Formats: sequence, C-alpha cells, structure tokens
Amino acid sequence: MYEEQVCEVEEIVGRNNDWRLRTLNLIASENVMSNRARKVMGSDFTHRYAEGHPGERYYQGTEYIDEVEAEVKKYVKALFNCAHSEVRPVSGTNANEAVFSRFVRPNIAVLVNSTPGGGHISHHRAGSVGKFTQHILEFPLTPDGYHTDVEKALDLIHRHTSRWTKFPLKVLILGKSLFLFPEPVRELASICREKDIILIYDAAHILGLIAGKAFQDALTEGADILVASTHKTFPGPQRGLILSNMPGNLWQRIDRGAFPGSSSNHHLDTLPPLAITLYEMLEFGEAYARQIVKNAKALGKNLDAHGFKVEAKEFGYTETHQIAVDVSGFGGGALVSVKLKDNDIILNMNLLPFESVERSVNPAGIRIGVQEMTRFGMKEKEMEYIADLMKECIMDGKTVKEEVTAFRKKFQRIEYSFDDRPCRFD
Ligand SMILES: Cc1ncc(COP(=O)(O)O)c(C=O)c1O
Repeated sequence: MYEEQVCEVEEIVGRNNDWRLRTLNLIASENVMSNRARKVMGSDFTHRYAEGHPGERYYQGTEYIDEVEAEVKKYVKALFNCAHSEVRPVSGTNANEAVFSRFVRPNIAVLVNSTPGGGHISHHRAGSVGKFTQHILEFPLTPDGYHTDVEKALDLIHRHTSRWTKFPLKVLILGKSLFLFPEPVRELASICREKDIILIYDAAHILGLIAGKAFQDALTEGADILVASTHKTFPGPQRGLILSNMPGNLWQRIDRGAFPGSSSNHHLDTLPPLAITLYEMLEFGEAYARQIVKNAKALGKNLDAHGFKVEAKEFGYTETHQIAVDVSGFGGGALVSVKLKDNDIILNMNLLPFESVERSVNPAGIRIGVQEMTRFGMKEKEMEYIADLMKECIMDGKTVKEEVTAFRKKFQRIEYSFDDRPCRFD
C-alpha cells in the first residue's frame, strides 16, 4: 500500500543528490565526505549499540566496532597532539552539552561571544549554556566587530571574580559561528589559570584548519578543553569531538558528561567514515587547510573589487574559511541569499556584529564558506569566477543558473582524499 511512498522518498533523495552536484555550496558549516568515507556508511554498524568504551561495553557483539572506535581515539590524539579524546558526541552541540553539563552551575557566571558577535546558539541563554546558568556575560568587541577587546575583557573578568561577586565567573567559552580571526586564547589563558576559570574553545567551524596547521592551536595556546564538530572544515560525517590535556580527574567529569550524561549509544554508522576522514586529514590536511584559507581571502578580494562591502577588509578579510559581506544595500541578507539560491549558489544570511538579535529574520549580512568548493578542487581562479557570478546575480540582476551548472560540472571529484586509489580488498 505504501510502496509508492517508498519510491517517492528514494526519488527525492536522488533528486537532491543530482541537484547538489550542480550547485555552488557556500554554506560555511557544511562539507562533503570522500566517496571512500561514504562507502563505509550504511553498514551493519548502523543497527548496533555500543555503550561505554571499547573493550568495556555493556552489550556483547561489539568487537569490530571497538576496533574502529579505538583507532579513531588513537588517531584523533595523534592528529591534534593531545592527551584525551572523547569521540562519542553525535554533534558539536552534543559535545558542548557534555562539557557544559559538568562545568556550568546555576551559581556561576559564564563569559561567551554574543550572537551578533558570532557566538553559537548553544553558548547562549536559549541554548545549552542557558540550561545550566542564567548568568551569561558577553565578550566586549573592538570597533571592527571581529576581534575581542582584550583589555576590556580582562577588566570584566577581574570584576566578575572579585570577592564581592555573587555569581563568580568560572567558565569562559571562546570560538564562534561567524569566525574570521583567531581568538585571544594566549591573552586570556593566564588569568583563567590564576582565577580558576575553565577555558573552553569551541572549534566547531575551524577543526579542519587546526588539523591542517593553518589556524591557532587552542590547546597549545592554553585552552583547557576543545569542543568541535567533525563536518565543517573537517570534512567528515556529522559528529562531535572533545579534546583536552587536563588532569585525569577533571577529564573523568567529561567522560561521564559524554556517557551517560548526554548520550547512550553514539550513532555507530558514522564512526567508520570518521576514521577514514581522519586518515585523509593526516595525509592531506595541511594542503587542504592552506588552500581553504587562500580561497577565502581570494573570494573576499574579488567581491571587494566588484564593489561589495566585504567585512574586515582592513584585516585582509579573513584568516579562516569564511568571509562576511554586508549586503544591506541590496535588500539585506534574506533577499540576497534567496536570489542566490534561485541561481544555485547556496549560502546563509547572517547577523553582523552590533546588529540587534531582532534583526535575525533579515540581517545585513551573508556568511560565505569556501571549504566545500575547495574540497571539490577549486582554487583562487575559481573564486574569482564565483565572485563574478555573484556580482552578475546580485548587482546586475542577471540569471546565472546555467553558468553555475556548466562551471560546477568541471568540479566533481573530491580532492584531498584517497578516492582515486582503489582499496586492495576491492
Ligand atoms: C561555534 C559552533 N559551535 C557548535 C556548533 C554546533 O555544531 P553541530 O551542528 O555539530 O551540533 C556550531 C554549528 O554550526 C557552531 O557554529
């Protein structure tokens, strides 16, 4: 009776797959896995449970899963050069929750990046942090909006750790969703140690850049804990990670935060592709991350040359995979992102620093990420062409869909992977 509907679902998925290969995806929080990583999805792992750690499971029958999970833990530590790795969170938000639930209490204050300042919703009152405390302070920004005002931040930390403070500042969360420049980890690490504040660094967006040594290594710079997603600049399956060099007794808290605190089973289908992506990043990560940053800068420069208001121009636009553009002169982020999508150029509208949160439905900005198109092999020359297409679409009001399809056709192979090398068991 429902056979028709089954076909329909299959057809919808097929249509999406075909369409996506014709589009320029510039969503900064997404990426594509290699074919070899995808090939190990949908295996029998999908059906199984594996609570606890490899070798210490509650259920029987997990031997092969244990092998893969132990490899993932080992190579995550090797890639990020750290003592502890928690690989069970099923997303960045889930990783955040596992950590926040252990360190954030109702009687303490937390210092975070504001939403217009680039902070993620999980850091805020409406998100994960807000479940554990209502005392949420925001980092002061420099006038350009893309850097923390360190002097003012230090002053704020002193004030909120004084003897008379009712809700002492005990947790600091760096890292952003609109993330163009390094965070002041070194500048704030010593005061955090002195005042007994846990310094958490949310690397959801830039994990792949850290893996490729193209961005600040927050743990080396003094962060206590690094949380991340594994599917933005790190081109893996949708999961989360927690990394740290903290003493074992504190790490135990996170271990329990991950399981049983915020998950039981941990979506085992995505574990083998994570292992494969890790090996890809160990082998090709540096070349990939370097090219991502070069491409983002090139796109910023070319959009600027066309007359777009690219943010942070005086700082070279960006040091990550992202750029931000003020499109208020073209009707705002909502209109511009829809116009581009109608031409198969996909990105998201975004609040810019100092805009009010109420403007979220039509903010001044768009956020652009180049990590996915870089994975398909695009370089600076292609960024120049993407800027031309965006100019024609937004400034000249032209339809560029056919040009997008023709251009994208030339970039179908997933680079920085082992896709072109057959498996010896095939
Ligand atoms: C800074 C930051 N942290 C956490 C997350 C949440 O990650 P996930 O979507 O994997 O839950 C995001 C998502 O974009 C993010 O930008």
